[in-house]
Amino acid sequence: MTPNNISLTRFLIEEQRAGRVNAELRLLVEVVARACKRISIAVGKGALGGVLGEAGGEGEASINVQGEAQKKLDVIANDVLLEANAWGGHLAGLASEEMDHSMPIPDVYPRGNYLLLFDPLDGSSNIDVNVSVGTIFSVLRCPEGVTTPTDEDYLQPGTEQVAAGYCVYGPQTTLVLTVGHGTHAFTLDREVGSFLLTTRGMRIPEETKEFAVNASNQRFWEAPMQRYVGDLLAGKEGPRGKDFNMRWIASMVADVHRILTRGGIFSYPLDSKCAPKGGKLRLLYEANPMSLLVEQAGGAASTGRQRMLEVQPTGLHMRVPVFLGSKAEVEAAVSYHRSHDAGAA
Ligand code: AHG
Ligand code: MN
Ligand code: MN
Repeated sequence: MTPNNISLTRFLIEEQRAGRVNAELRLLVEVVARACKRISIAVGKGALGGVLGEAGGEGEASINVQGEAQKKLDVIANDVLLEANAWGGHLAGLASEEMDHSMPIPDVYPRGNYLLLFDPLDGSSNIDVNVSVGTIFSVLRCPEGVTTPTDEDYLQPGTEQVAAGYCVYGPQTTLVLTVGHGTHAFTLDREVGSFLLTTRGMRIPEETKEFAVNASNQRFWEAPMQRYVGDLLAGKEGPRGKDFNMRWIASMVADVHRILTRGGIFSYPLDSKCAPKGGKLRLLYEANPMSLLVEQAGGAASTGRQRMLEVQPTGLHMRVPVFLGSKAEVEAAVSYHRSHDAGAA
């Protein structure tokens, strides 16, 4: 049962009455949620809908700006979000993991005051094996006086986000949203076709015994990460004095959803393979929206050396190391980096 049967629409109207969102931002969130419903339907059809596998024609892979082969669903989800958001008058422009550059809203439509960034389909490697995937989005204000935004206008630190969220397409389709006043979860009622509020004010437990990392990269990690995970694995007998459990879904959305639900720490640290790019995950449409959601739920998010939301972006597709989740555990991971750097200095 859902508490009070509060739909996303009603929740947003009540947030507007309380002065926490304006009509334009409310419309924006509703449009994104509607697009997520469409993506959820496409994901759910799987092989029956012909949506599995790689994009591009026979024998020719379609490669995105990240140098990654696009899956059909990466392209479908991107198209759904672009089409849904083009005409409503609430946006000045859009940027996506799947597009080299940002895109101003076409001249035929009115332009609004916001910029939307998204990872249309997160966890692409899980699509074909029927494991949870998701959509991540971030909303920024279009800078004052800018009518045709370019990439530079999106280079704002995460503290400037006015809304952020993700939708996880798993056994349930769940939308998790913040407009800067707590983090709230809405579950899709598939029969009715509407998102209903299922958790108001998610809270991440401060302490945890669960960590998420792709341990196959261990030999490429920096020294402080080696030491940190070494101590987690040493368990009760080690310096941390307790046993830890490990989970890695390889869909950031699904891993972060678990952490928002029951605590934990998620990390995609710097390693010698991704170091030339600055990390694996993208700041503007992966790390920042997730960091705002996590902070709004009482957790913490860091690059290991700096609060994530204070990182000044230098490019639309900038990458960063990521540590986020239960506050005390993120602080522990940060302290390993701090003492390592102090020793090195
Ligand atoms: P995307 O599918 O949008 O490119 O993102 C994949 C990301 C993230 O979801 C996940 O945490 C990570 O890549 C998994 O990386 P590994 O395959 O290296 O474990
Ligand atoms: Mn992603
Ligand atoms: Mn993606």
